[in-house]
Amino acid sequence: MSQSVTEQPSVIYLKDYQTPAFLVESTALRFELEEEQALVRSQVQYTRNPDSADRLRPLILDGHESLELHRLSIDGEVLNEQDYRRQGEQLIISELPDSFVLECVTRIEPQNNTALEGLYKSDGMFCTQCEAEGFRRITFYQDRPDVMAVFETTVVADKQSYPVLLSNGNNVDSGEEDDGRHWVRWQDPFPKPAYLFALVAGNLEFIEDQYTTASGRDVVLRIFAEAKDLDKLDHAMLSLKRSMQWDEQVYGREYDLDIFMVVAVDFFNMGAMENKGLNIFNTSCVLAHPETTVDTGFQRVEGVVGHEYFHNWSGNRVTCRDWFQLSLKEGFTVFRDAEFSADMNSRTVKRIEDVTLLRTAQFAEDSGPMAHAVRPASFIEISNFYTLTVYEKGAEIVRMLHTLLGEHKFRQGSDLYFKRHDGQAVTTDDFVQAMADVSGRDMTRFKLWYSQAGTPRVAVSGEYDAASQRYTLHMRQSCSPTPEMETKQPFLIPVAMGLLDQHGRDITLASGNTTEVLELVSTEQSFVFENIPVEPVPSLLRGFSAPVKLSFPYDQEQLVFLMQHDSDGFNRWDAAQQLAVSILQKLITDYQQGSPLVLDNALIDAYRLVMSDVSLDKAMVAKVLSLPSEAYLSELSDEIDVDAIYQVRKFVRQTLAKALESEFLSLYQSNCSGDSYSPDAASVARRSLKNLALSYLMATERTEYLALARDQFAQADNMTDSQAALSLVAHSVHEQAADELLEQFYQRWQNESLVVNQWLAIQAANTREAGLQRVEKLLTHPAYDASNPNKIRSLVAVFCAQNLPNFHNLDGSGYRFLADQIIVLNKQNPQIASRLLTPLTRWKQYSEARQSLMKAELERIGNSGDLSKDVYEVLSKSLA
Ligand code: PHE
Ligand code: ZN
Repeated sequence: MSQSVTEQPSVIYLKDYQTPAFLVESTALRFELEEEQALVRSQVQYTRNPDSADRLRPLILDGHESLELHRLSIDGEVLNEQDYRRQGEQLIISELPDSFVLECVTRIEPQNNTALEGLYKSDGMFCTQCEAEGFRRITFYQDRPDVMAVFETTVVADKQSYPVLLSNGNNVDSGEEDDGRHWVRWQDPFPKPAYLFALVAGNLEFIEDQYTTASGRDVVLRIFAEAKDLDKLDHAMLSLKRSMQWDEQVYGREYDLDIFMVVAVDFFNMGAMENKGLNIFNTSCVLAHPETTVDTGFQRVEGVVGHEYFHNWSGNRVTCRDWFQLSLKEGFTVFRDAEFSADMNSRTVKRIEDVTLLRTAQFAEDSGPMAHAVRPASFIEISNFYTLTVYEKGAEIVRMLHTLLGEHKFRQGSDLYFKRHDGQAVTTDDFVQAMADVSGRDMTRFKLWYSQAGTPRVAVSGEYDAASQRYTLHMRQSCSPTPEMETKQPFLIPVAMGLLDQHGRDITLASGNTTEVLELVSTEQSFVFENIPVEPVPSLLRGFSAPVKLSFPYDQEQLVFLMQHDSDGFNRWDAAQQLAVSILQKLITDYQQGSPLVLDNALIDAYRLVMSDVSLDKAMVAKVLSLPSEAYLSELSDEIDVDAIYQVRKFVRQTLAKALESEFLSLYQSNCSGDSYSPDAASVARRSLKNLALSYLMATERTEYLALARDQFAQADNMTDSQAALSLVAHSVHEQAADELLEQFYQRWQNESLVVNQWLAIQAANTREAGLQRVEKLLTHPAYDASNPNKIRSLVAVFCAQNLPNFHNLDGSGYRFLADQIIVLNKQNPQIASRLLTPLTRWKQYSEARQSLMKAELERIGNSGDLSKDVYEVLSKSLA
């Protein structure tokens, strides 16, 4: 499992891609599941790949070093140790016929698999996670996505402990054995790569529903969970049916098997997995109930259920040729799930949320030591590339194609892509080619988005000539160097824009439209607009039409004007953000210079305007009234001054709260309704605005609002209101009340694991002094489990990512704590260890004092012994 730093793990390059030496006709698997071991027999029908020029290429099988090989035979003839070579992660067999069956028996120990890749146990049930390279921990196989086969799987296990036995496809046979064991056989008729294989065995219950596809196929829908969670599956089922219908309507894609299954598991490294016909979900992404789940949790379930379901076409029917193409399925599927969520809820709010994530976390990734192209050119460990860049920036690339082609052509392009490549493993070039073919456009420059890392900057200025009634926009693009890429060619940047007249109305442009998409394709370019009667205010990058940092020298009045009038909802919000950012940044400088902090009235006035604007949707108001996060302010800084950012943001919140106290109070009161809970969009919006108002009221630190929050906590009939109140009190100056409520909350919810995670996260994020001591105490609390990724994320990751003053404590204790955690996790669960490293990888962004403390901890991790490939890669790139 581990590899020492001295024997450096090898780098894998896209340019070295070779087709597989052999193709697989069919794969038959038999699993004998026991408490101390699992025996896996695979029978694989191979044929030599006619594509391959070299007829002497050996069969190279991938197999993790934990595999115990019991038997290997070819067409029934057992192989001796001289007949094959086992070399690192590979098993090599030469001098093979053109067609044969290889049978292989391996022994594995799922109960000891703490990495949660391959076959492992989660809370007593067996389950698998094979993406990206987990199948090689089950048996020897060409574990690469371009080897696709039909699978037949037989699972044998004790009937009492594991009454439910599942795998991909259709249940074709089952039976009982005399010793209390039973078996079920599954067949999946669709050829698939090994990473989409799945197996589940456990004591599970399920809810069932049914969906009839557009062409009349009846599909059984089942969602499985432990009995105690059976009451939390309805929202996922509803989301699934909506996803199925949406994919038919918007993409013309129907489901293709007779049954679709989802299983909830508590131990899972990621959110969920799209295994063919048998999706496996982290409980956090599938369970939802008003009493235990907050509104954003409901929305997350809807989005992730959609995402995994949409993969059935964008990922499974058409898959990736190699892992460099990961964004082929992930970027496209994130775009699809984002549009689905936008159609189910508020489109503008969904866009604001996605862009916020992109601008904070993805932009930070793209300027750090792990920056990589959406289609990377090399990697050491593919698990490290399930990133915001591949997912979110990848989705932005697909969105740009949608913007450039328009709805109709884009749909034609996606139809062509699915038709041309159904059943194939393809590349991002193939995807773009389908779009090029239907539109007749040359996409050569556009494709630089896939191969060049870094966030482009676009500096825009406007020039108005009253005499000729001509308005000109001058644009200039640039992109900073990223690892292994010093200089970049200019990108094709679609800039959706409009021009506002002096009343704030859209000016009709020459095209007859009020929004146009300008295509910036060179370093410098100017765009001329004729017949513009007055000097306009430009609204640029509407809907965030490209993942860039665009700047225009707006003054405060212009930003307030755009906030009030822009017909593009996203840009109205963005104008408010830009106004707040500029005011906060100025105060940060004041703070650093020791000048007294005074809040500009412009922000207070702008907030007052928004609160009184009845035309705005409540969810939008809540977004506009939220200050830019510490993470976003950090991303915008050349050198991150943790203390200044934290103190200034706190000061501005408090000042706004006091200046607008009565407005926030009436906002709170008018949005408290006596109605019982409903998760519909309007109610979600109302609660988000109400709880935002409460957060400002609490920021005044006045005791009467503590009483208000306590009342809300006591009376809430739903987790959204209860948790909002808890977290506000827990983070307030009222320490005694904080302790009381936290204790009450734990007593009430200690048996609901996902609620306990929220309870851990609230405490981990508490910026009050001695945060680390509180977190360390929680590590030994019965609520914590150091082998469960959800617990680690709730406590350790939240502390390091959200509790800036404590994590960045100048005594270095926060960094030391994180390094200690990583050193342990490196052996136990390398994927999680490597993800936790992220905050330390940004060390170069901080002051000297913090830099050296962070770097020392990175070095200590490096010297701690055998490093997994996952941790090695991130660490070595961060220290390079
Ligand atoms: N393919 C999954 C998704 O995005 C993510 C995942 C990757 C899950 C690797 C587990 C392991 O839908
Ligand atoms: Zn995905």
